[in-house]
Amino acid sequence: MDDLNRPLELVWAQSQFPSLAGPWTFFDNAGGSQTLRGVVDRISEFLIERNVQIGGSYEISQKAAEALRAGRGAAQTLMNAERPEEIVFGHSTSVLVMTLAAAMRRQFSPGDEVVLCRADHESNIGHWERLSEFGVVIRWWDPDATGRLSLADLEALLNDKTRLVCVHHVSNILGLINPIADIAELVHRYGAKIVVDGVAYAPHRAIDVRAWDVDYYIFSIYKCYGAHTAVMYGKYDLLAELDGLYHYFYGKEMVPGKLEPGNANYELNYAITAIVEYLAELGRRAGGTGDTRALLEAGYQAITAQEDVLTTRLLSYLDANPKTRVIGVPLNENSRRVPTIAFRIDGMNSKDVCAAMDRHHIAIRHGDFHSRRLVELLGEIGDGGPLRASLVHYNSLEQVDRFTAALDAVVKDAA
Ligand SMILES: Cc1ncc(COP(=O)(O)O)c(C=O)c1O
Repeated sequence: MDDLNRPLELVWAQSQFPSLAGPWTFFDNAGGSQTLRGVVDRISEFLIERNVQIGGSYEISQKAAEALRAGRGAAQTLMNAERPEEIVFGHSTSVLVMTLAAAMRRQFSPGDEVVLCRADHESNIGHWERLSEFGVVIRWWDPDATGRLSLADLEALLNDKTRLVCVHHVSNILGLINPIADIAELVHRYGAKIVVDGVAYAPHRAIDVRAWDVDYYIFSIYKCYGAHTAVMYGKYDLLAELDGLYHYFYGKEMVPGKLEPGNANYELNYAITAIVEYLAELGRRAGGTGDTRALLEAGYQAITAQEDVLTTRLLSYLDANPKTRVIGVPLNENSRRVPTIAFRIDGMNSKDVCAAMDRHHIAIRHGDFHSRRLVELLGEIGDGGPLRASLVHYNSLEQVDRFTAALDAVVKDAA
């Protein structure tokens, strides 16, 4: 029997995250996921056994460099990049977008146009919007009232002056997966480049920068089972054209070093190896075969199946409850929705709801999630902003039921 569709081994998956043994139900994963034991172990191993500067001739320095290379290789596998040099490490997605915008700055001339999406997290807006100080014209791509983006709307904004389109793969509020390959194809038809924020996508589905033909793709490792660091993919030829941001003797040809001033964090990036190993092992346990990338894709398939069950149960509850209202599309058609679900409770301030849920040891969040322009556009900024329950594959149906029971109790107490 071809059993690639074996369900995710939930108990094993949960056992790989030491913090899940505690009393909390973590439904705030889009803020930051829990960390794999393997990640913690790699960080310790580096700091205890390899913590010296790279570039020395002695053995430990060589081992430190090898660790950084392994981390870059792991990020390459995670994103399916063609070469390890296409991976740039940075402190966070916000910093990597800032890095990219600074390194690209001199490629723009007055009158060039950049398309920004108002549904993005601010990290993929503000740094680009500042290009207007140099005469760049900003065009806004807005979602409709349900948060959906339309390709026809995008096409209406594109012309021969368009140089760049910046967009998110999944909104950290709406949870809907945008058709990034189609968007990239359209953008390229107009001769422009695309920068994708993949932060809210990466924990849920396999990234494939080559299949989608995106120019730049950025996400945060701390939301994807690892530590506080982030990675940016860029097509090699494009990275080679960017200005360097390091010392003058780091020439343009030094890809990616010229974009990692002061060096990348060694131990945190080394630990990306443990994320890839974990995802591949999930895939193997779900019946996957082949090389690490194939196993990782099988792992993400198992993640998708598990998340679909959670998403459906939670959306059905929120949609059926007369007191709650889902923000965005309340359906998960063809697995196009990840379990990042924003909602409101009638007549309640979201801050009070979170505080009440804290007492049930259920971690959720409220506010604008730094996607303020979207929250304003949707008219949801008041009363504490949207509530957000954001799940990943290590959450269980039993936890969803605990969440809905707690929410029922909170609403009842407030009545
Ligand atoms: C969709 C999205 N993009 C970007 C970011 C920013 O990531 P970082 O904290 O690594 O700068 C976040 C953080 O919440 C996010 O949710």
